[in-house]
Amino acid sequence: MPTHVPCGVRIAGSGSAVPDKRLTNEDLSKMMDTSDEWIRQRTGISERRIVDPEKGEGQLSLATAAMKNALDNAGMVGSDLDLIINASVTSEMTCPSNACRISAALDAAPAGAFDVLAACSGFVYAINIADSLIRSGRFKSIGVIGCDAMSTAVDYDDRSVAILFGDAAGAVVLARDEDPGRGCIHQVMEADGRTWPSLYIPRKTEDIPANASPRDARLGTLRMDGREVYKFAVTQFKNVIKESLDATGLTVDDVAQFVCHQSNIRIIESAKEKLGLPDDKVYINIDKFGNSSAGSVGLCFDQLWQAGKIKEGDIVVLVAFGGGMTWSSSVWKV
Ligand code: COA
Repeated sequence: MPTHVPCGVRIAGSGSAVPDKRLTNEDLSKMMDTSDEWIRQRTGISERRIVDPEKGEGQLSLATAAMKNALDNAGMVGSDLDLIINASVTSEMTCPSNACRISAALDAAPAGAFDVLAACSGFVYAINIADSLIRSGRFKSIGVIGCDAMSTAVDYDDRSVAILFGDAAGAVVLARDEDPGRGCIHQVMEADGRTWPSLYIPRKTEDIPANASPRDARLGTLRMDGREVYKFAVTQFKNVIKESLDATGLTVDDVAQFVCHQSNIRIIESAKEKLGLPDDKVYINIDKFGNSSAGSVGLCFDQLWQAGKIKEGDIVVLVAFGGGMTWSSSVWKV
């Protein structure tokens, strides 16, 4: 039996992808009773990107493009990966997973492949899982993707949901590193399943909670109790960041970037204010991309990475919450 040598994990490459098609607040105000002013004030969003199914775009094409970009950035190809993890709630089919179809598109066989369902926490869950699997000694390089084409699951008759969501993908290639101090130094993956009726996509009428409003009868689309989610998120988001700092003994000054799920600008601003996080350490792109669910943290990470704002040796905190309700953080020494 070979002895397992402790190892660390490095981020070998990063990539992202967003659709070309823009859906602005002005566009939405022509489709429903809302306004640019209301949306910007309550959410911080001005526009979002959405896939064009007529051009064959969807979760699969976006996720594949992001993974390909991450591989290019790493100077690698699909066959260099030994596992692909795709975090999403909008994969086209449940069987096969889109991870398998991404593997096919990128010629990655016989790499393992599976999807993770943790809603907006998906990318952070997936990067935590990947780090642990590499440290176990079983895998050497793992492609991690967070991607949602939320426009395929949004009910555009429901104005409180329709304004929030957009489509995007972020991906990283993680690789074994000799330095055990490198990679994820602390992780949180938690959930409170009792709260699931705040955010869910029913497939059949039996899935709909007994006390749901008649609007909730629309199957296959995201149902959300915005006020409940807001109350949950505004506390949990701050708590999970604080817990990550406390557990690692790090201070805000030690952290180069807090890479936060882009849910609502007010939720991020509240955490910033309560924890004293400076503007230049909390990247915001919700104005341009809305909430892209599992895509959001990976997209932010990639934009920071490509801009040279995340460098080797930096401490970076990834943090997200989402349907389930789930929440997650991942503290990295890059
Ligand atoms: N345009 C105009 N008015 C709207 C609207 C829209 N798009 N959506 C809702 N409203 C109305 C409501 O009908 C309500 O009207 P009423 O007072 O006459 O009943 C009023 O605005 C206030 O609604 P409320 O739900 O209290 O608004 P809010 O300030 O909580 O903002 C959300 C709504 C959805 C933006 C907010 O609750 C939110 O962001 N929640 C968290 C959602 C989230 O993060 N989800 C993803 C989790 S990963």
